[in-house]
Amino acid sequence: MASLTVRQLDERLKKQLRLRAASNGRSVEDEVRNILREAAECAEMRAPVAPTPSGAGAIRSMVTADTRRVLLIIGGGIAAYKTLDLIRRLKERGIAVRCILTNAAQHFATPLSVSALVGARVYTDLFDPVSEFDVGHIRLARETDLIVVAPATADLMAKMANGHADDLATAVLLATTAKIVLAPAMNPHMWANKATQRNLARLVADGAAVVGPNEGEMAEAESQGVGRMAEPLEIAGAAEKFLTAGIAGRLQGRRILITSGPTHEPIDPVRYIANRSSGKQGHSIAAAAETEGGNVTLISGPVNLPDPPGVKMIKVESAREMLRAVERTLPVDVAIFAAAVADWRVANAGHHKLKKQFGHATPELALVENPDILATIAGRKTQRPKLVIGFAAETENVVANAKAKLARKHCDWILANDVSPQSGVMGGDHNTITLVRASSVEAWPPQSKDAVSSMLITRIADALDEKGENR
Ligand code: CTP
Repeated sequence: MASLTVRQLDERLKKQLRLRAASNGRSVEDEVRNILREAAECAEMRAPVAPTPSGAGAIRSMVTADTRRVLLIIGGGIAAYKTLDLIRRLKERGIAVRCILTNAAQHFATPLSVSALVGARVYTDLFDPVSEFDVGHIRLARETDLIVVAPATADLMAKMANGHADDLATAVLLATTAKIVLAPAMNPHMWANKATQRNLARLVADGAAVVGPNEGEMAEAESQGVGRMAEPLEIAGAAEKFLTAGIAGRLQGRRILITSGPTHEPIDPVRYIANRSSGKQGHSIAAAAETEGGNVTLISGPVNLPDPPGVKMIKVESAREMLRAVERTLPVDVAIFAAAVADWRVANAGHHKLKKQFGHATPELALVENPDILATIAGRKTQRPKLVIGFAAETENVVANAKAKLARKHCDWILANDVSPQSGVMGGDHNTITLVRASSVEAWPPQSKDAVSSMLITRIADALDEKGENR
């Protein structure tokens, strides 16, 4: 090894070194060694990491050079022991890993065992004089492409949702602009608790992605339910997916069509029949799809909402106009029908305003059925989108009615929601969705309409990835 003589450095640098060494209680030589070690670690984070051989054939694909740094934040839960395997899974995918352990995490995984697997020092303290000399937490927040929080405990999620920054993990989470993936793990009652679900909804709305938790046996004796941390392979797979999608977004190159708002069916030039619909959910889905890089067309009935930026808008009034606009927009990869289309229109709509005439009978409106846009598109022989998704606005028997609608309209997924007046969904900012597919029913937590959109877009991107079609 070459030796380095500190004496030959210029005076200003020497003075800085002496000050830094003194403040860290080290000799100048030790300080230099420390700086070199850190610089080497940093270089290691940037350099492509060679995959370690894995007999299980777990490597599906390798992420490319510049998009492969993960900062793993280990929370204080029993599932922390699984993160040792997670580190291995990430590294075998060519992903460089840095680790932060919270104080609580150190009861379940030691910094020594984690650093042995990472092959570098791990970070535990916000006020670590060595790393903070160079604003360490900001560097940790900045020098990563993705942050994975595993296990994401109820406490850590609560702190994140409220913007706390009283330890290294939360300070980094607040300071980062990187995508955050949460792998929650906790007791099923803690998971189901309204406070946790509220925090989760807020984090999802803020852009965090969530893997798990899974259903199964818990660490505590005889405890069972939803709360098990997702398996390391699942978390590593999700991390890889987000790294690969990178800035481009997971819907890059996908054509997405969304209908939104009500339709207005004229009675005469000044009166109409309509459904109640603010268009908030449909417009929010369009914005989320655009953010993920989708090529989005939003076909909307009359609403009082701004056009989502970056989206191609087509404004219509009636169901028949909406159907025509939808057909003209084909082919698309995904069609999401969030509009509250009026089921009937007035057959004998007047060209002039109907006048009240004293002594005459009230006018009779003859109704005819409107085309069902969702069923028409789902039933197409040609240019049927890969994924056709409808909503089922119900006031009773939500899941049973949604299943019947799924079968009747031949669509792939139905997002069922309770729109009875007491639910506050109509015109409100929240929604409680049950995702109904032919093979499964998945209840989502009550959450903001934006969080619903985020969750839906993630599900869509997953489904398209699974189908594995070319763009
Ligand atoms: N839909 C549609 N065209 C229609 C009616 C509904 O595209 N003419 C779509 C909606 O956009 C939604 C789904 O079909 O995605 C279900 O709408 P909903 O109003 O819940 O169901 P309906 O078919 O109208 O049945 P019902 O009103 O009897 O519940």
